Amino acid sequence: MLIASAWDAYYAGVEHPFCTATATALTSRIDRLSPGRAIDLGCGLGRHARHLAESGWSVQAVDFSRVAIEIASTAEGPKVGYHVGDVTQWRTAEPVDLILVSYLHLRIDDLDALLAAARTWLAPGGHLLYLGHAHHVALDGKGVHVMFPDIADLARACAGMRIDEMAHVVRSHVDTTTIDVLLHARSWWSQDTALPSARRKRASACLTTSSNLRSAGSHP
Ligand SMILES: C[S@@+](CC[C@H](N)C(=O)[O-])C[C@H]1O[C@@H](n2cnc3c(N)ncnc32)[C@H](O)[C@@H]1O
Repeated sequence: MLIASAWDAYYAGVEHPFCTATATALTSRIDRLSPGRAIDLGCGLGRHARHLAESGWSVQAVDFSRVAIEIASTAEGPKVGYHVGDVTQWRTAEPVDLILVSYLHLRIDDLDALLAAARTWLAPGGHLLYLGHAHHVALDGKGVHVMFPDIADLARACAGMRIDEMAHVVRSHVDTTTIDVLLHARSWWSQDTALPSARRKRASACLTTSSNLRSAGSHP
């Protein structure tokens, strides 16, 4: 894991800091959602935070690289609330509709802990979108990296959530193939469990009968 000063040095040396190319695997999913409150954890230069803000989201974005946040803050476009902070310690007070985590490479245990905390910030029906390099980052085997999660790690981190998608995203380059993992999960909300209306009426009739029986003392 790189520490903040290493990322500062990296960003200070980036030649074209206002890279606007977003990850299609994320934007294609973000663009299907209704805008609300979003958090971008480990936002870097803010490419996805800006995309969200431009799409009407109210965005808070966090990164522990002061240099990255300084650069991101001076970019033109709709306002993003940028914060210098360690995502493993950072907390939000308000429930949010989307938590975005892209290519934030923590140790698997730290990622698990982060996702476990972050999912508690979601409003009912809120979305968690994760994209990052997979454990087997390159098909040639040279890129295998123990710091990168795989499907099983993400499955553990979002156990109990409603899973919309969990997939490998394979990208072919000239001389290699990169494999990412994508997770799209949601917090449950009451309408998710709603039954179609005819079944709901029958279920409600059963509940009424059973509650009548209970009040008549037929059940313990
Ligand atoms: C590969 S960059 C990805 C940036 C951005 N999410 C994107 O997709 O362009 C990883 C970022 O995570 C940040 N980062 C890594 N560990 C962090 C931590 N514990 N707290 C906050 N930021 C962290 C780094 O400073 C860096 O900006």
